Amino acid sequence: MAINFYRKIRRNISEDGLIVSSSGFLVNTMVGKIDFSRPLKILEIGSGKGPFTREIIRRMSTDSTLVVCEIKSEYNPWIERLMEEHPHKQVRLHNGCVTGLLTAPELYDVIVSSLPLKNFTKMNDQNAFLYRLIEGFKFALNNGGIYLQYQYFKSNKADIEAVFGKEMDEIDFVPLNILPAFVYSMTK
Ligand SMILES: C[S@@+](CC[C@H](N)C(=O)[O-])C[C@H]1O[C@@H](n2cnc3c(N)ncnc32)[C@H](O)[C@@H]1O
Repeated sequence: MAINFYRKIRRNISEDGLIVSSSGFLVNTMVGKIDFSRPLKILEIGSGKGPFTREIIRRMSTDSTLVVCEIKSEYNPWIERLMEEHPHKQVRLHNGCVTGLLTAPELYDVIVSSLPLKNFTKMNDQNAFLYRLIEGFKFALNNGGIYLQYQYFKSNKADIEAVFGKEMDEIDFVPLNILPAFVYSMTK
């Protein structure tokens, strides 16, 4: 039993880049940066079991839209349950790599990403995938739109700033999370 638990933790860290789902403190810090007072086109990337999805769906207006992107279909039941609980909200689930949703300009007002960017720097492609991703976020954001991203250890801050061509608008630190996290806010 202890061995199974240990294996699961190792798999979570290496594949998903986290130990357990994000805490309510992290969710509220990140989602709290979104101005829900107007209709929004929102893209959430890397939903996992949906700690952010739940709060975004709860707060978004009925004339807003949310695309939830998650590469692993094993998390679908959690997201589908949230969608069923809010039938009047416009939510779509996309299973696949997010790069497929970043192919046109100015599609979203808000991008909320839980992607473990640090893991992508370990890929043997001189960070080509990482940069393609961040360039895709900028490309697909509306002017004035906001890209929200959490990371541990302040990783990849410089990569995001290099692609957006400016300093981060805000960085929040959330200690009450496993692991403590930094929330990046970058407007286009
Ligand atoms: C760190 S977990 C975050 C889970 C949840 N949002 C949370 O904060 O607890 C990252 C998630 O991103 C997903 N993911 C990884 N690469 C992806 C990609 N290229 N496109 C879409 N989702 C991806 C993983 O399957 C995983 O569920």
